[in-house]
Amino acid sequence: MRELLANSVAVVTGGASGIGRAIARTFADHGGDVVVADVREQPREGGTPTHELIADETDRQTAFVECDVTDTDDLDAAVEMAEELGNLDVWVNNAGIFRNEEFFEVTPDEYDRLMNVNVKGAYFGAQSAAAEMIAHGEGSIVNVSSVAGLVGNGGYVTYCVSKGALRLLTYALAHRLGPEGIRVNAIHPGGVETAMLDDAEMGEQGREAFEQSIPSRRLGEPNDIADAALFLASDLSSYVNGESLVVDGGYTYTR
Ligand SMILES: NC(=O)c1ccc[n+]([C@@H]2O[C@H](COP(=O)([O-])OP(=O)(O)OC[C@H]3O[C@@H](n4cnc5c(N)ncnc54)[C@H](O)[C@@H]3O)[C@@H](O)[C@H]2O)c1
Repeated sequence: MRELLANSVAVVTGGASGIGRAIARTFADHGGDVVVADVREQPREGGTPTHELIADETDRQTAFVECDVTDTDDLDAAVEMAEELGNLDVWVNNAGIFRNEEFFEVTPDEYDRLMNVNVKGAYFGAQSAAAEMIAHGEGSIVNVSSVAGLVGNGGYVTYCVSKGALRLLTYALAHRLGPEGIRVNAIHPGGVETAMLDDAEMGEQGREAFEQSIPSRRLGEPNDIADAALFLASDLSSYVNGESLVVDGGYTYTR
């Protein structure tokens, strides 16, 4: 297999579960050393913790760091762990939470909680990572947004606000950090089979209707997103900067 991330060190926030877990595993399969930075070690969907899986099944270095992305000390600890493995090359802002909500009932505390994880966590994650990457002269930051960062939905307004903010964070940071050798890009997944999709409580019928509305006629798998992250993390995308990569089976732009 072509080792697209040979001699690279990556941090994946929210890497214990779902999409982040698939990204971490894919990076390791392609020669990367991976720090899993999450509030939990156990995958939400069950199974072996991601870092143990990587240690068992690949020859890459890996570590778990207990990291709440809303805490800048925790983010710095993840950077420090990466630097113990080598130079920090790739930072994936993947940690996120979803909430269905009735707009008129959302409280300021609930609003803050979601925005803190999804936006503030990514903002300061990028700040911690970029400070280190600048010292080495290169790096790639990947923000996991959502199709909810491209189109609005009244059933989860705060989540849309957070994912739209991530999109503009991506463009603004590409502008700020590009001259320093750091690329910043976003991935916009559609519905992906993870524990978070269960949080959306679509029900069996809703899920089938959703699948039928996707041109590719299936939901995404975590590996679909991981492959896009691999592209954006590696030199395959060396001239891709400030880009939004939509990975949704054709859902968004065929509405
Ligand atoms: N699953 C989908 O359909 C879908 C679609 C579009 C975008 N996304 C985005 O993809 C990303 C990953 O989602 P997923 O489906 O794998 O979700 P998930 O719930 O399966 O996993 C999310 C992971 O993030 C971690 N996390 C949550 N809060 C954290 C915090 N404060 N600090 C550190 N880690 C934290 C969780 O512990 C968990 O391991 C999220 O940003 C999500 O918004 C998911």
